[in-house]
Amino acid sequence: MYKLAPSILAADFWRLGEYIKEAEEAGVEYLHIDVMDGEFVPSISFGTPIIKSIRKKSKLVFDVHLMVEEPIRYLEDFKEAGADIITVHAEACKHLHRTVTRIKELGLKAGVSLNPATPLAELEYILDEVDMILIMSVNPGYGGQAFLPLSLNKIKSLKEILDEKQLKADIEVDGGISALNVDEVIRAGANVIVAGTAVFGGNITENVNAFKKVFHEFEID
Ligand code: DX5
Ligand code: ZN
Repeated sequence: MYKLAPSILAADFWRLGEYIKEAEEAGVEYLHIDVMDGEFVPSISFGTPIIKSIRKKSKLVFDVHLMVEEPIRYLEDFKEAGADIITVHAEACKHLHRTVTRIKELGLKAGVSLNPATPLAELEYILDEVDMILIMSVNPGYGGQAFLPLSLNKIKSLKEILDEKQLKADIEVDGGISALNVDEVIRAGANVIVAGTAVFGGNITENVNAFKKVFHEFEID
């Protein structure tokens, strides 16, 4: 029921294949792929060539987080590279509805992300169209930042709205999450957990197991 989505941004790119393989064998469900354009966020990460290469070797669900201005320009490219889920930022889209519609027309799952300071109200008219909402628990742009506790109330409110509308969209949370604080975001209502440093920094199998242990405690509750 809970899904772990390790962010490859925190991997050693020299050994990217090995890192992904170990995470996959340890039983993660998604691979979180952070694409940064140097415009929407200050830094530049990587693009479609990397995704294409890893797609050939990995069966994981590719959860592509586009921190990119006007991502509508690149949706076909990311589909072709191997994305399964494409998440765009509400703040980066002039025409969010059109962008979400296009992702779904491509046969992919559509996610919408909100920065920490963006209110949930942005989603009011798009909520029943999306498969996933990504609540940023850091300001996007870098891995390894501290979790912002303000995101907990936001997740709680979002969960209440979804339940009230009887919508089944996933709630993903991204930034500063480890096996030590993941219980708080799960309790707030998130079910897809992104973790970069806390998975790829150190022993990957042990790190994944630490998350799984917490997931299991909630699943048997
Ligand atoms: C931030 C990215 C995150 C980041 C998470 O802009 O969207 O996915 O890599 O890294 P950690 O888990 O290290 O905060
Ligand atoms: Zn991300």
